[in-house]
Amino acid sequence: MYLKTLHLRQFRNYQEQKVDFHAAKTILVGNNAQGKSNLLEAVELLATLRSHRMARDRDLIKDGEAFAQINASLEREIGVSDLNLTLRRNGRRSVAINGETVRRQMDFLGVLNAVQFSSLDLELVRGSPDVRRNWLDTLLIQLEPVYAHILHQYNQVLRQRNAFLKKNQDSPLSTQHGLNAPLTARAERPATANSNQNSELALWDAQLATTGTRVIRRRDRAIQRLAPIAAAWHASISGSTEILEIKYSSHIPLVQNQPEEVQQAFLTKIQQRAMAELYRGTTLVGPHRDEVELTINQTPARQYGSQGQQRTLVLALKLAELQLIEEVVKEPPLLLLDDVLAELDPYRQNQLLDAIQDRFQTLITTTHLSSFDAQWLNSSQILFVKAGEISMN
Ligand SMILES: Nc1ncnc2c1ncn2[C@@H]1O[C@H](COP(=O)(O)OP(=O)(O)OP(=O)(O)O)[C@@H](O)[C@H]1O
Ligand SMILES: [Mg+2]
Repeated sequence: MYLKTLHLRQFRNYQEQKVDFHAAKTILVGNNAQGKSNLLEAVELLATLRSHRMARDRDLIKDGEAFAQINASLEREIGVSDLNLTLRRNGRRSVAINGETVRRQMDFLGVLNAVQFSSLDLELVRGSPDVRRNWLDTLLIQLEPVYAHILHQYNQVLRQRNAFLKKNQDSPLSTQHGLNAPLTARAERPATANSNQNSELALWDAQLATTGTRVIRRRDRAIQRLAPIAAAWHASISGSTEILEIKYSSHIPLVQNQPEEVQQAFLTKIQQRAMAELYRGTTLVGPHRDEVELTINQTPARQYGSQGQQRTLVLALKLAELQLIEEVVKEPPLLLLDDVLAELDPYRQNQLLDAIQDRFQTLITTTHLSSFDAQWLNSSQILFVKAGEISMN
């Protein structure tokens, strides 16, 4: 797929800026805080409707303006699509394809695909589990847009169940949820209220297990597909001296990945933790607590080796993402390289450049062109970014 034009209106520090892309590679050069990453973020939003900077919509809208608009013209094998995303201060978004409003966001996802690679991605190795869950979710949204809906449903149930647990924290309800509690506690509340609450909790349990199972199975499947690709890249970059393993690790046993069995295992687990959940007033079991385990030579990657080795791992993950998306959507996605080339040593730079060639349209940001070799510069379109304006020279 090929991004032909991008049109930003009142987005971040851009007032109104149109960009035409002429080459497979575009280098955006400029000093700090000029708008380079902002432009990549706009493309990322069109691909995933998310920003890895975790910005709220009102942060994405130019200061003092009421709304922001991102427009793009994208060439795919099936033809050209015009994409439009409008952001508003109140958080309401609207999306359109070829001028027609699309009601469900998942119908918008999957038109443009992109892999984002920035220095923040080192957090994939060093950060807490939610960084990896978030990364995996963003990838899944592109592989199967329906996942956005599935995840949304799970999060809704989770929120409501948490609210319920909070409200009933330390309540005698814990007695009836398959647990023995002191008789005094039971006597404090009329039996009917108690059983009403019990059945309400059972309802939330069932919904959590149903929606959660969908999330877990899809995440596990995606990791199973991604892991061998990433391991191959990692072996190639590290010269086969290191073995990378990636595993989706859930509190819920993934019994042969049969949905009914996973769901049952989920329910059993919730029941085991019921007392603790009521005590803590929050849901302790489910995909929101799962982990993506990264190990190198059987050591957790976080503890393994140097910064350079961790960077190799992230590079392998990103190359695997590119390859997996291409396999699934049958067209090469865009690659957004935010300030990372300079951080890679020349050998890893070349690995990356060899992998990209001209197959993946790539947008690259940098503060100076000196980190690029001449051949690269010659084949790239170079754009200068200054205070939210883009020029060819
Ligand atoms: N909502 C907004 N309204 C106006 N300006 C904004 C908004 N959000 C961000 N900015 C401005 O955008 C600039 C940052 O842009 P960006 O992150 O793209 O910089 P950059 O060119 O990538 O810099 P660096 O080289 O440091 O990464 C900052 O000056 C910031 O104040
Ligand atoms: Mg930047």
